[in-house]
Amino acid sequence: MTDEQDDFGLTEETEGAPGDEFEEIDVRDTEADRIARTKDREFAEFRKRLKDTEQFKLDDGAFDDATYAAIYKLVEDDHVGAMGGPISTGKEANVYEALDGEGGDVALKVYRINASNFQQMREYLEGDPRFEGLRGDKKAVVLSWTRKEFSNLRRAKAAGVRVPEPLAVQRNVLVMELIGREGDAAPTLSDVDVENPQMAYEVVREYVRRLYDAGLVHGDLSEYNVVVYEGELVVIDVGQAVTIHHPNSEDFLERDCRNVANFFARQGAEDADPDDLLAYVHEHANPRAEADTAAGARDGTEATEQGSDTDDA
Ligand SMILES: Nc1ncnc2c1ncn2[C@@H]1O[C@H](COP(=O)(O)OP(=O)(O)O)[C@@H](O)[C@H]1O
Ligand SMILES: [Mg+2]
Repeated sequence: MTDEQDDFGLTEETEGAPGDEFEEIDVRDTEADRIARTKDREFAEFRKRLKDTEQFKLDDGAFDDATYAAIYKLVEDDHVGAMGGPISTGKEANVYEALDGEGGDVALKVYRINASNFQQMREYLEGDPRFEGLRGDKKAVVLSWTRKEFSNLRRAKAAGVRVPEPLAVQRNVLVMELIGREGDAAPTLSDVDVENPQMAYEVVREYVRRLYDAGLVHGDLSEYNVVVYEGELVVIDVGQAVTIHHPNSEDFLERDCRNVANFFARQGAEDADPDDLLAYVHEHANPRAEADTAAGARDGTEATEQGSDTDDA
């Protein structure tokens, strides 16, 4: 670059802009891709061992070498010590139990690169200023999506919403707190008898409000994406959550409110009504105040203050 170009400030164009935390991440050639490519003996043995375990045999062919390499890297970095069985096998991702480097329980969400609805993923990403200018193939989209879920978990946590603590992210693999016990993951709201639906409704209402106040809309909130553990309601599956800048964020909020209110109304919560919930959230949250500042659109700073800065990416 010449001095003249420098004078135009081209090198600093994006500094401090919302979303720049993602620009440092190469979604095309990650460390895991490099590990998979070099095929050193240690990795080859690791992959063979993992492929031979019962839980991965079931999924034969589902994961590419670089996905195994991502898990390998997580092991190297001590975020994962041992793999456990699957908690859930979905269309876009599988969730596994695992142990971390110290033997504590964690959950691993492994996204498939060949996710069937990656076109839809792309649409969610494109309206989000944190992912502005995202180009690319399936892999870039799925890797960005995985990072988005990690980042959304941090934001939700910083906003005071109970979510699984995000611990690490590597390529298409997300490591987070396991909700529940080893061999006994917590059930979703849809699978339990809700003891006090009115109270539970008010808790979820407050979660929706806090998320919105922090500039986020879950986008797939329902009884299937809230787990219940030891009297707590824990919101999961925030990969599709968008900032309020997304052109469809209000539609998503409306849908979330409808799902939540209808569910709790069926459970007997007297106050639960979709329109009331939406009005309540609008009335009691002020998302623009935060989201319009660069700091609000950038992630991590809030989470760091809470001592959860384990993101090593
Ligand atoms: N951190 C976690 N702790 C315990 N169970 C989890 C956790 N994350 C996900 N699950 C379980 O895995 C299922 C699928 O996870 P989710 O994030 O909802 O992915 P999907 O996109 O497949 O719906 C959930 O319904 C829940 O039962
Ligand atoms: Mg889900």
